[in-house]
Amino acid sequence: MIKDTRAAGTSAAAAARNTDSGPSALGAPSDVHTAKAGETNDMAAAMPYNPGKAAEHGFKNGVNPPAGTTVEAPSRLPLGSTLSEANGTEKTGTVAAEGVNATIAPLDRVRVDSAGQVLTTNQGVPIADNQNSLKYGERGPALLEDFILREKITHFDHERIPERIVHARGSGAHGFFECYEPLTELTRAAPFKEAGKITPVFVRFSTVQGERGSKDTARDVRGFAVKFYTDEGNWDLVGNNIPVFFIQDAMKFPDLVHAVKPEPHHQMPQAASAHDTFWDFVSLMPESTHMLMWVMSDRAIPRSYATMQGFGVHTFRFVNAAGESVFVKFHWNPKAGTHSLVWDEAVKISGADPDYHRRDLWERIEAGAYPEYELGVQVFTEEQADSFSFDILDATKIIPEELVPVRRIGRMVLNRNPDNFFAETEQVAFCAAHVVPGIDFSNDPLLAGRIHSYVDTQISRLGGPNFHELPINSPIAPVHNNQRDGMHRQAIHRGKVSYEPNSLAGGCPFQAGAAQGFVSVPARIEAKEAQGKVRAKPEKFADHYTQARLFLESQTPVEQAHIAAAFRFELSKVTVPAVRERMISSLLNVSEDLANQVAAGLGMDVLPEPMPRALAKPPKPEVAKSDALSLFARPGDGSLMGRKVAILVADGVVGQPALDLQAALFAQGAVGRFVAPRIGPVKTADKVAINADASLENEPGFLFDALALPDGDAGVQALSRDGHTLEFLKDQYRHCKTILVMPASSALMLKAQIPSTLLSGDPDPGIVFGAGPAEFDLFIQGIAQHRHPERETDPPLV
Ligand code: HEM
Repeated sequence: MIKDTRAAGTSAAAAARNTDSGPSALGAPSDVHTAKAGETNDMAAAMPYNPGKAAEHGFKNGVNPPAGTTVEAPSRLPLGSTLSEANGTEKTGTVAAEGVNATIAPLDRVRVDSAGQVLTTNQGVPIADNQNSLKYGERGPALLEDFILREKITHFDHERIPERIVHARGSGAHGFFECYEPLTELTRAAPFKEAGKITPVFVRFSTVQGERGSKDTARDVRGFAVKFYTDEGNWDLVGNNIPVFFIQDAMKFPDLVHAVKPEPHHQMPQAASAHDTFWDFVSLMPESTHMLMWVMSDRAIPRSYATMQGFGVHTFRFVNAAGESVFVKFHWNPKAGTHSLVWDEAVKISGADPDYHRRDLWERIEAGAYPEYELGVQVFTEEQADSFSFDILDATKIIPEELVPVRRIGRMVLNRNPDNFFAETEQVAFCAAHVVPGIDFSNDPLLAGRIHSYVDTQISRLGGPNFHELPINSPIAPVHNNQRDGMHRQAIHRGKVSYEPNSLAGGCPFQAGAAQGFVSVPARIEAKEAQGKVRAKPEKFADHYTQARLFLESQTPVEQAHIAAAFRFELSKVTVPAVRERMISSLLNVSEDLANQVAAGLGMDVLPEPMPRALAKPPKPEVAKSDALSLFARPGDGSLMGRKVAILVADGVVGQPALDLQAALFAQGAVGRFVAPRIGPVKTADKVAINADASLENEPGFLFDALALPDGDAGVQALSRDGHTLEFLKDQYRHCKTILVMPASSALMLKAQIPSTLLSGDPDPGIVFGAGPAEFDLFIQGIAQHRHPERETDPPLV
């Protein structure tokens, strides 16, 4: 029989033009339609069964999954969504580049610069008049037809999105992480593969309690969240500036947050833990005691984001290419050292500049004084962990550095401010579940809750499941999967396949397998009786006081005094005496001395009994004191980068030394600002041109790291006539800052009743008299000390 290829070709071509059913017989391709049908069939035929299925079973396979099976497509034709894809326009472009997800690219693709451009609507229509709405006649009614006005107002109406339920107040910056040495023996994580490897990062620092517009200098834990855009996906190290936490199990997180947030009946106080519900809760949760020591210390009122540590808090795992795993704790150490505010200063700053930390971060980066932190790791084995007196799954415990030293593995530099706060800092979505191959979780029950919580909350905060496509959140690593649709989808996927396994897209995207993909470390639970389902904590979790005492005893006397004063202040704001007493009874288990001091400060004559302990005989701790826990253990590089110094001036001062001092400070990276009774030009006695860019009224003394008082009798007299000057001076003195007194200003010191010696009679090391280069040097050295606590008394004398 003679085969009628033309007839077969015609009927196949006709069949291939239908989107239901299809050609019953596939001959040689006669056109693009039949070619596509034929090649699709060839691909399906090349995968007669799912070859990966068997390997889905069994423990051994589970920890070493194979890569998925793929079939090479004969051409790109069968993978496309439509035969019309080659018909391009300026808008559609043409065919998707092979294997490319174009939503993943440097942020330049979405940056907008309007220089030299006309104003348009969101539809790109040029707007002729942006001043007037459309009306019927000059004095007539506005018209509903005004689509330009309505688009503008409608967009404005929806400019706000829900704020984060915690950590609502924050500030962000871009930068990079640089690895010091390959860590491949410990981890296959991409950032640690080789010395000098650079990984881009975005960091967001935050407070926990307050709302988005609340003050920066609240007594609070600071969030320290780092998004590493690694070439194997995003890794978020979502940490805090304190290495422990209030609670041990995620079950208690909503209770903790409800207790510390403004009280629900009257929404007060804002961004403060000093109220009934917080202290009621924590005094009933003795596991919080260690964290309370930290948040009552100066750690909770940092001088700046650039001068605080960061911690991953939980125990994580490093996993190497062979699948071997060790435990790891992460530490960030600031190059500029750990420096804090004092409470009186923090309170005053919160009024004068609620953006104090945000401003500081922004200005440091704009000035090129880039905040820098070293990443350190404490690495230990499962066997070591078992031998510790505490449980490494308990987030209320640290691992003392004496027990497991911190190994420095790289540095992070924050060197770029965001272009737009909302698009970047507000829309960034960190997630404790974002890990990459080489990093894994421990069984910390607090961490387990976090792994669930972040994406869940972000679905409502960012309006749907596609917020990973927001430019700030998308990784630099390629993204290919079968997730589709949902609110605000950006990616336009080519082809009809959105499932796996498939044969119609050649099996792609296919599972990466153990060699390339993320594999969870198989958790091992040794004791058989601990394997059943249970709601319980391990026994070592019940030791609530040993490490609280360790922290307290590791502080210098001035830090201990600040802890006592903070407890006194916070508990004095509690309105229920029984709650105060309960807290004192708990503190008695940490330190009788501390409990006595706080009780005395609260006018409590009779001390309660110590709170019954959950664990009568805790194991003997490995260390009783750890110097590394004191803020003073990390003075930093001693540089003045990012510091602000007030140089007071007024008409009649001698200008030259003030200018010389400003230049000397600049040379050290500090900013010396001329502060006068009013802003503007100052008539100096020596006719030197000085312009005051701040006034005593708009930049009060507590906003500066140090103070220089000028020379020139007439100028000093002018300053002393302004009450602000004396307040300025008193705050600088009270907050133990370095003060330079040029000759004529001794009169100001007298008028403000500032002593030049300490109570002991020794000279005050933080007060320098003179106006020459030697005194400027001493002044600079004094500022590098941060402050001079030898001067401090409680209550303050000045
Ligand atoms: C079970 C305990 C916890 C839960 C359920 C939880 C939940 C949350 C939620 C819902 C957010 C808001 C996220 C957003 O809207 O983007 C958040 C933010 C944050 N959490 Fe937690 N959290 C917990 C414990 C912790 C701990 C222990 C730490 C520190 C190690 C921490 C650090 C942070 C940080 C730094 C942020 C702010 C991230 C950013 O800057 O956007 N959280 N947390």
